[in-house]
Amino acid sequence: MTHKSELAALEIENLTKCYGTFEAVKKVSFNIFPGEVFALLGPNGAGKTSIISIISTLEKLTSGSVKIFGVDIEKETMQSKRLIGVVHQEIVNSGFFDVTEILDFMSGYYGIYKNSERINYILHKLGLYEHRQKKVKQLSGGMKRRLMVAKALVHSPKLLLLDEPTAGVDIQLREDLWNFVRELQSEGMSVLLTTHYLQEAQELCQRIGILDKGQLKLVGQTKEIIKQFSLRKILIKTKTEESHYEANAFFEKKDQGYYSYFLPDNNYLGKLLQELSLKAEDILDIQTQEGSLEMAFKKAIEMKS
Ligand SMILES: Nc1ncnc2c1ncn2[C@@H]1O[C@H](COP(=O)(O)OP(=O)(O)OP(=O)(O)O)[C@@H](O)[C@H]1O
Ligand SMILES: [Mg+2]
Repeated sequence: MTHKSELAALEIENLTKCYGTFEAVKKVSFNIFPGEVFALLGPNGAGKTSIISIISTLEKLTSGSVKIFGVDIEKETMQSKRLIGVVHQEIVNSGFFDVTEILDFMSGYYGIYKNSERINYILHKLGLYEHRQKKVKQLSGGMKRRLMVAKALVHSPKLLLLDEPTAGVDIQLREDLWNFVRELQSEGMSVLLTTHYLQEAQELCQRIGILDKGQLKLVGQTKEIIKQFSLRKILIKTKTEESHYEANAFFEKKDQGYYSYFLPDNNYLGKLLQELSLKAEDILDIQTQEGSLEMAFKKAIEMKS
C-alpha cells in the first residue's frame, strides 16, 4: 500500500514544545495516513498529551509545524479545529446539563443545529442512550469518559484524537470503544490514540510511534516493530536436567520443568538444539511464544537516542 500521493491526515514536522526552559517535545516528526489508526505510546511524562494538546490548539507549539489534511493548525486554526475531534485525558464536563443537552451544545458550537440522528447514533454506540437524560454529575466516571468521546464525534471529524480513552473504564467499555473505533475507521476516519494498554494498541493500530522523554524513538508498522524489536521465546521440556542447558547464551530461565530461551528468529531453533546437543528423543515438549509489543516497547525505551 502506498500513501505517498495522498494528503496525510496528520503531518507533524520537527515539532518542539517547551514549557519555560523545559523541552517536553523534541523535534518530533511523523505522519498519519488517511483511514489509519495510529498509537502514540510512551511512559508517563513522555510528551504524548503535549502533542495532542498542540494538535487541538489547546497549547501553542514552540517550533515546527502541524498540518491536518494539509491545513496548518497555526495559520488556519478554525478550519483545522473542524477537522478534528478530541478526547482529552483529563475528564472535564459541566455538571449541570444533561447528556443530550451537552451534545446539542457541542453540535451548535460547530454550527450544526439539527443533529439528533447523529447524536442518537453515537449515544447508542457508546452505551449512553439510557443515560441521556442524566445530568453529568449523576454519571459514573466511566460514563463521563464515554460522554467525552461522544462530544468529540458530534460533528463527524475526519481525525479523532483519543488521549487515553480507556483509562479507568471497565473491560466491557474498552472492548465496545475499540470496536466503535474500528467501525469509525471502516467509515474512513483517521485516529491518533495514546494508551498504556499495549495489547490493545497491538491489536488495533496499523502503525505506532514510541515516544520517550520527548523524543520519538521508533515509528513504523506495528507488526514490523514487533518482529524487529522483540524476541521469540522457546520453551523446552527435557527428559533429563543438564547443567549445560542453562549455560547457553540464549537461556532465560528454568520454570516448572521448562527451560526457556529467547531467540532472534526461528532460524536459530536448529542452532540452539545443536548447541544443547538435544535430540528428538531427549525432548518431552517444545512450545514457542511470539514476541509482543510490550517486549518491543521496553527495548525501544532502552535504546540510546
Ligand atoms: N503545562 C505544563 N507546564 C509545565 N510542564 C508541563 C506542562 N504540561 C506537561 N508538562 C511536562 O511535560 C512533560 C510531558 O508531559 P505530558 O503530559 O505531555 O506527558 P504524557 O506522555 O502525556 O504522560 P502520561 O502518560 O502521564 O499522560 C512532563 O515532564 C510534564 O511534567
Ligand atoms: Mg498524557
